[in-house]
Amino acid sequence: MIVESAPAKINLALHVRARRPDGYHELETLFAFVTDGDSVTLTPGPLSLTITGPFAAGLSGEGDNLVLRAARGFAERFGTSVGGAFTLDKHLPVASGIGGGSADAAAALRTLARANDIAIDDPRLCALAADLGSDVPACLLGRTALGQGRGEKLEPLDGPSGMPVLLVNPGVAVSTAAVFKAWDGRDRGPMPDGDVLSLARAGRNDLEAPARALAPEIDAVLALLEKGVPLLSRMSGSGATCFALYANVSDRAAAAAMISAAHPRWWCLETTLA
Ligand code: C5P
Repeated sequence: MIVESAPAKINLALHVRARRPDGYHELETLFAFVTDGDSVTLTPGPLSLTITGPFAAGLSGEGDNLVLRAARGFAERFGTSVGGAFTLDKHLPVASGIGGGSADAAAALRTLARANDIAIDDPRLCALAADLGSDVPACLLGRTALGQGRGEKLEPLDGPSGMPVLLVNPGVAVSTAAVFKAWDGRDRGPMPDGDVLSLARAGRNDLEAPARALAPEIDAVLALLEKGVPLLSRMSGSGATCFALYANVSDRAAAAAMISAAHPRWWCLETTLA
């Protein structure tokens, strides 16, 4: 049995620079990871997927989960037989801008790489990750990085590991494709130079405006996060999950308590930058 964690990813900044002829968008994004998320377990057996955990229901009826696509893609690329009984323990909300499906696919690839003695940085594994989704290579790398291209060209960076983080989702699923489509096409400029935290603070998320137009609940999340004295608060990815970074755990706990009291049904996770 092989277990791999599938931590949530956050985009500390996400600059959309151009619409591409292939329908994707040219990005500059600062990926970071937290210490909590889903997990993927692989046991020997025919190919199957069991989904457990608090957000398992959000995936029921999804015929071709990214974990199964990862398993089939792995067998094709590495010439192994298609197989593996996977269990996905789903703790991250679905379609919420924190890379749940991509993190799960990357974790599935890691379990298969371990089972077949393939190095995690094997170029074939990285190419397969990029085929599975724009965020899957970053999730496979699993550390703070600057992403370019559609997000798959990565430059690892030293991040503020250990910093307290709060993730908040108002319970609305947002379509990544719809949010990108609603981007206004205006290039607001490149990522500045500097260390990760100053880069993040000087940066922005260009998908925030189109996501807020599609899911106005995001306005309320950001307004509440701003009340709780964060070092930085912002939407992640294409939303609707927003994050805030704090100087200490008591500021994070106070913000989490305030938000949970005001919106008991929102998803709120107190975690830490990896
Ligand atoms: O790559 P992935 O399948 O995760 O992307 C989902 C959707 O998000 C794409 O179909 C595309 O509409 C949009 N997208 C984009 N530009 C990117 C990444 C994703 O337009 N760089």
